[in-house]
Amino acid sequence: MSDLGPEQGMTPAEIDERVNAILRAASLAEKIAMMSGKGFLEQIRADNREWGKRPYKAGGGIERLSVPNLWFTDGPRGVARGQSTCFPCSMARGASFDVTLETRIGEAMGIEIRAQDCNLSGAVCINLLRHPAWGRAQETYGEDPHHLGEMGAALATGIQTHNVIATVKHFVLNSVENTRFQIDVEIAEDVLHEVYLPHFKRVIDAGCASVMSAYNKMNGEYCGQHRYLLTDILRHDWGFAGFVHSDWLLGVYKPYGASAGLDIENPEPIVFGDKLQAAVETGHIEPAVIDTACRRILTTLYSFAAAEDPLDEYGTDLVASETHTLLAREAAEKSCVLLENDGTLPLDASKISRLAVVGKPADRANTGDFGSSRVNAPYVITPLEGLRAMLGEERVAFADGADEQGLSTAIGSADAVIVIAGYTADDEGEYIPGDLVPQMPDEVKAAIPPNEGEAPEPRGGDRASLSLPADQIDLIRSAKQSGKPVVVVLVAGSAVVVEEWRDGVQAILQTFYSGMEGGHALARILFGAVNPSGKLPFTVARDPDDYPFFDREALAITYERWHGYTKFDIEGLQPRYPFGHGLSYTAFSYRALSARDVGDAIELSVSVRNIGERSGTEVVMAFVGPPQTDDACPRRLLRAFTRIELKPGEAGRVRLSIAKTDLHRYDAARRTWYLDRGTYTLQVGGEMVTVLL
Ligand code: BGC
Repeated sequence: MSDLGPEQGMTPAEIDERVNAILRAASLAEKIAMMSGKGFLEQIRADNREWGKRPYKAGGGIERLSVPNLWFTDGPRGVARGQSTCFPCSMARGASFDVTLETRIGEAMGIEIRAQDCNLSGAVCINLLRHPAWGRAQETYGEDPHHLGEMGAALATGIQTHNVIATVKHFVLNSVENTRFQIDVEIAEDVLHEVYLPHFKRVIDAGCASVMSAYNKMNGEYCGQHRYLLTDILRHDWGFAGFVHSDWLLGVYKPYGASAGLDIENPEPIVFGDKLQAAVETGHIEPAVIDTACRRILTTLYSFAAAEDPLDEYGTDLVASETHTLLAREAAEKSCVLLENDGTLPLDASKISRLAVVGKPADRANTGDFGSSRVNAPYVITPLEGLRAMLGEERVAFADGADEQGLSTAIGSADAVIVIAGYTADDEGEYIPGDLVPQMPDEVKAAIPPNEGEAPEPRGGDRASLSLPADQIDLIRSAKQSGKPVVVVLVAGSAVVVEEWRDGVQAILQTFYSGMEGGHALARILFGAVNPSGKLPFTVARDPDDYPFFDREALAITYERWHGYTKFDIEGLQPRYPFGHGLSYTAFSYRALSARDVGDAIELSVSVRNIGERSGTEVVMAFVGPPQTDDACPRRLLRAFTRIELKPGEAGRVRLSIAKTDLHRYDAARRTWYLDRGTYTLQVGGEMVTVLL
């Protein structure tokens, strides 16, 4: 029998039987071929490096037996293929604290992935933002593990709704970019389990069916061949049944990665392939290792292929459809964070006869970095275009700031000045070396076709500074000197230190990289059609030295327990803007917080009232303070959050549930979790209650 392909409607038992049949029928070479991607390097070269021009074969597939391939496409700001919807970057969506929105975005991505012939997505990036200079900060959701887990689980669930296998990445400790291929992260067991792993477990518990290993090392071993990570923790402790694939090129170095728990080497068989086959044939690797990996790949592939599709068809007309682009706008509106406002915002269009929009980024289609997550959207509304669409061309004067005359003319004629400042793909992002294969060992290099023509300039990487570039600070100063109201809009993947220029500015907003509809969203926020509701998913320091040690050249680093708000709390540091900060055009009050122990969980209830004059949405966050205050115990941890929309004067009850297991601490000596007994403090919006556990 040669047709062993999947069929819709197969039961788990039938899938099992089919997988067994494939494993019986396939040769060792065919099985090993399933354990790697193939063809990517030739394709990307033939396509003149145009990213996402085709689906990339990422393992699976035996043509002779009709076993389908895994076809990969990237994320997370949209589908990195064709001309897809470009959503705001993950960090922006993190600021929305909106898991329902994130699931809807996942569904939209799932549809666009299916419509473009892929079945495996690399969109769920949840590495912890340990330091805001991390180049790929924009691809993740923030600094807090609970929040990361909830947002990642929402995205994975949405994507998988359309029977696309979601990949959660990069497992694990991938929070430095420039040296990601070499860096060795030293970490203590309790810190690993309590700070850097819980969000991965949360996403896997939500059903995310595949994992991408990280490039970096953990405690001396590469993550892509780390048995403790890929087998002991992932499979034994967490019961993960899906497959693990490597990050692309340089994700695994030795065939023993397969025995350690890596099922697929992507995107080419450089370390697996012939070398893995030889290792099996010479008895260095058990044949059972190959069968186990293939079983995981096939069972996942077949379970998704057999499931009923929510849509009858996935036509290309669904890609960047109006529904999806409106969703991108909604996400941009919900994720913008109003950092400061002295009442200047919202602007009243009837009182602004002319608006000055200044700064180069104002007329840039700036949706984020140029790495693997780059989305080629059919159009991008820049801040300038959004404001012109709202006010009319003639009421918006633009100056990029390059010449003083142009700048003073634009500002001189205006009633208010909007400075668009921040970064681009040159300043931060995935590090794209000029050569596709930078620091590779010779034997790996030999397997890779050389560049044709000149290699492009390297770009992206970790940020060199947390401040704005000097020319932008000068621009803000010039705007302030005009005496007109000045609003600064920050376009950045994470924290920007504002100390040098914030005095005398009337309002500051952070839009992050706000996607293809960002310009419209910004205009609607500035003029009050939308009330901002985003909250910072990270801490903004006054002094960059308040963050943990970071060195973008480091080849070794220790990840301590403390980063973000836990570090600021324990060291008594005063942030400029704390985690969770974000203003609204209205205000909210909290009362009557209560907590109930319901066995496995603590249930919280609190009343929130809109005490201002505009409708608005409040993000309600519950932090838990522990009974102990020993050296290894954060003073508070975010353990639940939700959003509530309220009209002026309206009050609503918010209910939140905190699983007791989420309060557990890790006992490294016993490799087990335990609950500290005693009185826990629960804080919600300035209200506080205690529970005895
Ligand atoms: C990135 C991954 C990405 C992969 C495939 C790698 O360089 O680290 O996040 O999924 O490329 O595009």
